[in-house]
Amino acid sequence: MKILIIGNMGYVGPVLMEYLSSKKIKYDGLDVNFFNNKKVKNLLKKKKVHQTYIDVRDIKEYQIKKYNAVVYLAAISNDPMGNEFQKTTFDVNWRMAIKIAKMSKKVGVKKFIFASSCSMYGISKNKFKTEKSKLKPLTSYAKSKVRSETDLKKLSSKDFKVISLRFATACGYSKNLRLDLVLNDFVTSAILTKNITILSDGSPWRPLIHVKDMSRAIYWGIKFKMIKNNFLALNVGNTKMNYVIEDIAKKVTKIIKGCKYTINKNAPADKRSYSVDFTKYEKLSNHKKPLMNLNDSIKDLVIGIKKEKIPNNFRNSTYIRLNFIRNLIKQKKIDKNLRFI
Ligand SMILES: NC(=O)c1ccc[n+]([C@@H]2O[C@H](COP(=O)([O-])OP(=O)(O)OC[C@H]3O[C@@H](n4cnc5c(N)ncnc54)[C@H](O)[C@@H]3O)[C@@H](O)[C@H]2O)c1
Repeated sequence: MKILIIGNMGYVGPVLMEYLSSKKIKYDGLDVNFFNNKKVKNLLKKKKVHQTYIDVRDIKEYQIKKYNAVVYLAAISNDPMGNEFQKTTFDVNWRMAIKIAKMSKKVGVKKFIFASSCSMYGISKNKFKTEKSKLKPLTSYAKSKVRSETDLKKLSSKDFKVISLRFATACGYSKNLRLDLVLNDFVTSAILTKNITILSDGSPWRPLIHVKDMSRAIYWGIKFKMIKNNFLALNVGNTKMNYVIEDIAKKVTKIIKGCKYTINKNAPADKRSYSVDFTKYEKLSNHKKPLMNLNDSIKDLVIGIKKEKIPNNFRNSTYIRLNFIRNLIKQKKIDKNLRFI
């Protein structure tokens, strides 16, 4: 069995590669390598990964072989970047996902795993969203995921099965660490400044998933025998890992001694508040418990973050994806469409 992972050099990719290696799954990688991370490059060397450095917008059919499955992680991967680079977000997250899915189908790839997001549910007041709930994407990022799912469903067939994994908000340590994710931000603040500043009033709901659990879900998706359906969209996380933001901060202050948190009582209501029902995934995969619960995720981050050289004002640093991309533009390495110059 051989897999192609597109977008394997970001935050999720390195954890996924280690997970698949531990399961003796062979894989190739394909990525434009925006983040040029040394630790990720070392991992590729260590695992002897056949890596193609290419923009998904330039991929030609001959570059997609008859893999058993293609995993599509490549994305402009959050709301702030989606707002600033709207066209590129739709191009990379949606149009290219569909173009590559079509190529994959044509060359005989049997399975396409798409990294989607629970953010497509928008706001939910006290109601746990299931796969049957109405989608209300509020941002370009979330809209790009909805459009991808709609088109992937149409493309799916008996010989080309598609699974769209609607992931909860990721957390946990990765060799290519991102700090624009809520738990990663809180743990870093707690370690570096002993103070967690919650930018909202602390009331929004957010489901969390550790990157190892995301990797396990992708592995499960690769292996899962789809008999009845050609297309499956699944909420991926654990129902017990839905949290109110303030409670996440509280938990961090319990584990990291001597730090406190402050909330912004005057903040306008955060539109991105949702809780999600993951029962369907839990039943289908039999993953009733997460590999990494909230405590484990915090402890894993503490160990990882202490090994990184993170500046105290990390919210202005390149550990934030948007800052990294803006920097590349400033240095004239990429243009406004996020194309290497
Ligand atoms: N991190 C989360 O909270 C989360 C939650 C739900 C879903 N997801 C989805 O999971 C996937 C992986 O997320 P991540 O956190 O690893 O994102 P990331 O931004 O860390 O990594 C994305 C990777 O895609 C590559 N890429 C971007 N544009 C490309 C292009 N034009 N051509 C080739 N490669 C390109 C980047 O170089 C990078 O290595 C994304 O699709 C994301 O939307 C992430």
